[in-house]
Amino acid sequence: MDDTSSKRRFRSQAWFNNPANADMTALYLERYLNFGLTQAELQSGKPIIGIAQTGSDLSPCNRHHLVLAQRLREGIREAGGIVLEFPVHPIQETGKRPTAGLDRNLAYLGLVEVLYGYPLDAVVLTIGCDKTTPACLMAAATVNIPAIALSVGPMLNGWHHGERTGSGTIVWKARQMMAAGEIDYEGFIKLVASSAPSTGYCNTMGTATTMNSLAEALGMQLPGSAAIPAPYAARQQMAYETGKRIVEMAYEDLKPSDILTKNAFINAIRVNSAIGGSTNAPIHLNALARHIGVELSIDEWQSYGEDVPLLVNLQPAGEYLGEDYYHAGGVPAVVNQLMEQGLIHEDALTVNGRTIGDNCRGTVIEDERVIRRFSEPLKERAGFRVLRGNLFDSAIMKTSVISDEFRDRYLSDPNDPDAFEGRAIVFDGPEDYHHRIDDPSLGIDDRTLLFMRGAGPIGYPGAAEVVNMRPPAYLIREGVHALPCIGDGRQSGTSGSPSILNASPEAAAGGGLAVLRTGDRVRIDLKNGSANILISDEELAARHAELKAAGGYKYPKSQTPWQEIQRSMVGQMGEGAVLEPAVKYQDISHT
Ligand code: FES
Ligand code: MG
Repeated sequence: MDDTSSKRRFRSQAWFNNPANADMTALYLERYLNFGLTQAELQSGKPIIGIAQTGSDLSPCNRHHLVLAQRLREGIREAGGIVLEFPVHPIQETGKRPTAGLDRNLAYLGLVEVLYGYPLDAVVLTIGCDKTTPACLMAAATVNIPAIALSVGPMLNGWHHGERTGSGTIVWKARQMMAAGEIDYEGFIKLVASSAPSTGYCNTMGTATTMNSLAEALGMQLPGSAAIPAPYAARQQMAYETGKRIVEMAYEDLKPSDILTKNAFINAIRVNSAIGGSTNAPIHLNALARHIGVELSIDEWQSYGEDVPLLVNLQPAGEYLGEDYYHAGGVPAVVNQLMEQGLIHEDALTVNGRTIGDNCRGTVIEDERVIRRFSEPLKERAGFRVLRGNLFDSAIMKTSVISDEFRDRYLSDPNDPDAFEGRAIVFDGPEDYHHRIDDPSLGIDDRTLLFMRGAGPIGYPGAAEVVNMRPPAYLIREGVHALPCIGDGRQSGTSGSPSILNASPEAAAGGGLAVLRTGDRVRIDLKNGSANILISDEELAARHAELKAAGGYKYPKSQTPWQEIQRSMVGQMGEGAVLEPAVKYQDISHT
């Protein structure tokens, strides 16, 4: 550190070293001394570095951060920082009722309050399981103190009978096998458990690997950090390096607003296509953009991302898993492929103080089975298509996961190869779906479109990952493995279904899905990006008027205070599903 930087007066000194207000300084100081820190340390003028700890027994995906924190601390100390570690509201994707989505904004809110209200000069964000990454990044964006993310890393690869079993992805397969009578309850659990052999987050290209990769592509993690498996030595070493670097960032005052620029988001959108990223990514990145004050619309996911090919061969779109992704070169190898095509804004700054171009240029692919060269992609045009019409103002579809079976059945009309039409069956929430899907009286056949509504941020608080619905068991036995699924909920990133999801506005907010009726004909045109109920404008208006007169779309009442509070102020998924009143609070660390 040069002379000028070491003379920087950090915000923590307003708490710990403020002679003009001796009363408060004494009060602030005394309790932070009670576990062994000294007055000299706290008044030394060294930066106080927070470790925002997302790991706990309730969050198994992130639990390894409790271990990594030791190496983080050593790095921070060695570089001359003082550590204060604190808990972040736990979020476990698979364990939280009714949804983990509900807790993203709660963890965000809690972390904003901590970063603002305590003597912290910079923070390490311990990211991992799906929503922990956006929650932490969003909070750092709002407060805008120097922040660096540390991924906990994916689990080791899962194996069963010599084949890779990917977390989450195997569940969809196992459900179909059980529905078809191929495995029993014990076999089901054994198969699913085989996919989770170690500490870490989902080893598939689910929302966790997606968001951790994008945190690196955005420039918020050290290069190469995202893909290192949780138990590897390199993960511990990365924790140490991250700890050292955040202290330098505090001195440099390198803030999220310096890194999270429009170009960084465009880079992340392109990387998302190339990795086959989750459909949850637009929700989280649009939320992050809003909190840092960058204009980013859902349509830009299509305009920047759709034409980018799929390069990463990870389940669910491909075959491999997290360890393979790491050994093949991880995010830097993917970025370099895109960079060679001019698809990356190379001058975007990253947490190490260098540009993404300098960090990634020339990174070789170590295993071309896992990360493909740009010229030999797994699939062309791997981004999202944005759809709209009288059903919703926006929804997205990951067209890269459309299977051949699906394409043959629905997109095979030579006169109209991008459109399909069918009779709608409408389910109101996941419980209704589970209750009725196998009911033969619904008359579901291989041309039916399945609709899920009441599953958005308001309807099923936080938005449930339930849009991908398996066909009735009798159809699976006939070889029909997927029907078109459309809805106002989300979809797990570990699912490969070609669903149309994140529909905004949701039924509970008066969107067109609310007036759809079972038996209606619906037409989806992928080329034009349209999705419409085939009824007249008069009929549509009459249905909306009728719904309004009846008091709007009915959804279950809130079960907790937070559900009620979030429902009263959450926006729609197309705009990030943020707490709308929070957006105006930006760059608040000095207030
Ligand atoms: Fe936590 Fe997948 S359930 S990362
Ligand atoms: Mg998920």
